[in-house]
Amino acid sequence: MARRQPFSWVTRPTLQARETGPVDITRTDAWQALENHATNFERLDLRQLFADDPERVERMTHSCGDLTIDWSKHLLTPAIIDDLITLAEEAGVTEKIAAMMRGDRINTTEDRAVLHTALRAPRGTTVRLDGEDVVADVHDVLDRMAAFSAQVRDGDWLGETGLEIETVVNIGIGGSDLGPVMAYEALAAFRHPRLTCRFVSNIDSSDMIAALQGLDPASTLFVVSSKTFTTQETLTNARAARAWLTEALGERAVAKHFVAVSTNADEVAAFGIETDKMFAFWDWVGGRYSVDSAIGLSLMLAIGASGFRELLGGFRTVDEHFASAPLADNVPALLGLTEVWYRTFCGLQSRAVLPYSRHLHRFPAYLQQLDMESNGKRTRINGELVTYETGPVIWGEPGTNGQHSFHQMLHQGTTVVPADFVVFGSPDHRNPGLDGIETHHDLLVANCLAQSEALAFGKTADEVAETEPDPTLVSHRTVPGNRPSTTIMAPALTPSLLGQLIALYEHQVFTQGAVWGINSFDQWGVELGKALAAAMIPELTADEAPELAHDASTNALIERYRSMRHR
Ligand code: F6P
Repeated sequence: MARRQPFSWVTRPTLQARETGPVDITRTDAWQALENHATNFERLDLRQLFADDPERVERMTHSCGDLTIDWSKHLLTPAIIDDLITLAEEAGVTEKIAAMMRGDRINTTEDRAVLHTALRAPRGTTVRLDGEDVVADVHDVLDRMAAFSAQVRDGDWLGETGLEIETVVNIGIGGSDLGPVMAYEALAAFRHPRLTCRFVSNIDSSDMIAALQGLDPASTLFVVSSKTFTTQETLTNARAARAWLTEALGERAVAKHFVAVSTNADEVAAFGIETDKMFAFWDWVGGRYSVDSAIGLSLMLAIGASGFRELLGGFRTVDEHFASAPLADNVPALLGLTEVWYRTFCGLQSRAVLPYSRHLHRFPAYLQQLDMESNGKRTRINGELVTYETGPVIWGEPGTNGQHSFHQMLHQGTTVVPADFVVFGSPDHRNPGLDGIETHHDLLVANCLAQSEALAFGKTADEVAETEPDPTLVSHRTVPGNRPSTTIMAPALTPSLLGQLIALYEHQVFTQGAVWGINSFDQWGVELGKALAAAMIPELTADEAPELAHDASTNALIERYRSMRHR
């Protein structure tokens, strides 16, 4: 029976569509070869692939900095890998990496360079944009951040009433929140003992109320983080925070209790934060690529300048690998190509990210923005619509919690979800004196490795029947296996390691976008909703019932809300 295509908005290529456009990756021999391989996708068998090649694990385990990446449990053959690498060559991935890193304006729809790699370039190196070296500017800001952080951490930066700062509240959303909060949580073991950071992102008033709960304005520092400094949620929350502070300590206190991180000095000044309390970054840093810019100020306050520099060093290690390794050994590129294989050729729709580390509990959410805001696109750089599937849905939870919830579907569901496991050799804390706590980590790791083993190799009906006396249960207990995964293993979750991990994913996302020929660095899709919401506010709040000109559903919902509002 012919297999039904899963529903998709993508218009399948017709010969005519394939004729259009200057560079059409679908017309390459590698593309054709991969389409042919994909017709055999359901016959690929991990048990067989391992049996056929005793060297498979050795050949498919790579090192990148301190990361060891076991890539062997993927539904890939040497021929598929070769064709994926050829596809990357045809798509110009190597040249596109170089173009990004030398500062070409590859974000064409916003006419911007994409230079987050310059944020981790060592002092004294040069990256020129329009003839000007940007690395010196990067280090000027890092030095200012370091000096400020040291003052706050050492208790030399005093609030309006002379108290030391004890709580830092980062107000930001999207890339101005997800990176800092993820890294703050990840590096819990490296935090300053006196300082706590809280993060407010949502326009939901509960978020702000929870963040301010129990705080003393006199020992609270607000970091207003916004690339544009025009984002509705952030500015609304920042105004609420300012009102809370000035109510208690007066207008003058803003100077001691508010700093800003932004590219927009005019709006920062208009908000009332003086320029010397602003930490700059640049339009060539995308929001979702900005945790290593001044947007990481709250993180630096928590882990100190030296910890932050270790983080940058970790990023740099992977940047150098990505810039120089040939595609066949380039780990982020190979992982990106693996996703292209599953998503575009095999039609798999999502990827699970499963860190076996409680401290990485915000990592899947961070990757959702990184991957889905970058590659959730259907328009190629040249303005044509793609004729193939692009970015996957990214989701996940830390292990072992996920095992007791959605892993059932990963093991026996009707859809294949490739998974990324992240696991460490040691826990990132010292034993505070709890008896037996050391065994926890071994159990955690055993669970992680067992999950990837069970996903890959399953348990056949014959194997189940050997121990299951009730034949009616055999099919229920059979686990099909053949579910692919990557395992990323590293010694411990340190600042450097976190930088390496983030850069690994950044460059994986880049590779995918480069093959798909899309612009991974704009985000026009989010604009429509913002504009509609701004126009709707007066309709929700006007005293008189307004004339509504939306669709019938939206009109009815507005009326219903008005009837319920503030009851
Ligand atoms: O709406 C999407 C977005 O522009 C993200 O790309 C960005 O990280 C976020 O909003 C926050 O923007 P800003 O830092 O300018 O407040």
